[in-house]
Amino acid sequence: MAKLLTKFVCSNCGAAFPKWSGKCEDCNSWNTISEEPEISIANKKATNQNVLGKVLKLNNLDEDIKEEERLCTGNIELDRVLGGGLVKDSVVLIGGEPGIGKSTILLELASFVANLNLTTLYISGEESLNQIRARAARLGLEKSPVKLICATSVSEISATISSLSDVTLVIIDSIQTVYSEEFSSSPGTVTQVRATASTLSNMAKQQGFAIIFVGHVNKDGQIAGPKVLEHMVDTVLYFEGERGHHFRIVRAVKNRFGAVNEIGVFEMTSSGIKAVTNPSELFLSGRSKNGASGSVVFAGTSGSRPILVEVQSLLTASYAPMPRRAVIGWDNSRLSMILAIISTRYGINLADKEVYLNIAGGIEIDEPALDLAAICSIISSYKNKALSSDMVVFGEVGLSGEVRMVNQMEARLKEASKLGFKKALVPAGHKVKISGMEIIDINHVKSLGDFF
Ligand code: TYD
Ligand code: MG
Repeated sequence: MAKLLTKFVCSNCGAAFPKWSGKCEDCNSWNTISEEPEISIANKKATNQNVLGKVLKLNNLDEDIKEEERLCTGNIELDRVLGGGLVKDSVVLIGGEPGIGKSTILLELASFVANLNLTTLYISGEESLNQIRARAARLGLEKSPVKLICATSVSEISATISSLSDVTLVIIDSIQTVYSEEFSSSPGTVTQVRATASTLSNMAKQQGFAIIFVGHVNKDGQIAGPKVLEHMVDTVLYFEGERGHHFRIVRAVKNRFGAVNEIGVFEMTSSGIKAVTNPSELFLSGRSKNGASGSVVFAGTSGSRPILVEVQSLLTASYAPMPRRAVIGWDNSRLSMILAIISTRYGINLADKEVYLNIAGGIEIDEPALDLAAICSIISSYKNKALSSDMVVFGEVGLSGEVRMVNQMEARLKEASKLGFKKALVPAGHKVKISGMEIIDINHVKSLGDFF
């Protein structure tokens, strides 16, 4: 008798195990492992033996490959994260926490495209038509000719897409609700997500339409389901933002048609999501104009764009054997590293201090160029003296306290100058000049004492 092959798969990370357990060994989440049928391609009959692939010459590719065609999304920030618009037959995955605004931005996109007289299909597996209509009315888009269906079966979705001629854009909200009848596992499981996403993306590539999947995130903020989902698509965008803040960031973490780490900044208003074209102004809007101890403006970059943000720190006396260190918006281990550099290379003792470092505005920074600004902020807080309020700071700092050059120096300084900053503290060794701006070079953190 043929044996039914099954395996036990974690719906959070996609890891597979031969037997069930309550906790996933890979991602440590509880109650996420379920039994799923094993699909083996070895069992499938090989039908395409002896079929030759088309061989092209790399040096003749100009003749055989066309530049990808892009569709403007009607939102310049969204165009920017996508690398200059939505590529016509691409597959995009957009993840983010519930309530962050995924359905809102996608409905705005759908109606913009539909208003260009291009066939747009919005497939919702989560909300009723009435809910979608109510959202559209709130956004003032109820008159746009977007085609809506509420469906969760992949065969029904494929049949609907095939029945429409010349589809340009399909939105699936969300991929975790779609299921295929071929598998007995419930929607959202690894097998279902992988199978349905692959069917729909193959359709998109063959028929030449763009498809956008909404993906749920798990409690760590990663897109739930197998990593293979991220491998299958062309572009992965993450929708980020703090609940208490009204602005949102869409970050490209993978993009076959553009730069990664590119961000788009948006504001959630009472009538939809609006692009923020000058994010630095927004991030610095709450800053005290006269300078405050512990507050330093960092001239950073995100993807191709310079962004100014405020770094704040606060030190308080601690009587605990292990004083508390907390960081919001930056890497925790990087904070430990700069504290060691400050103690050893600059010479102040922080062993009896709690240290809190915050990137104001809720944006995440992942650049080492923040090192020097974070060090200035902590020293400023320690000495209770403010750094000049019209100064920006950036630079990577090595373990021996040397300040190292970073990329895009000119772009950072131009952005700072545009926003009215008159001084910049930067790594030595560059040749950049900006009119109206005093650029102060620094080689080593031990010279920082001159600025407080
Ligand atoms: P939604 O797009 O439904 O989030 P997601 O699809 O990511 O779960 O966004 C819902 C939230 O956004 C909800 O809390 C209400 C708020 N919102 C606004 O602030 N302004 C608006 O114009 C709309 C449509 C929603
Ligand atoms: Mg939604």
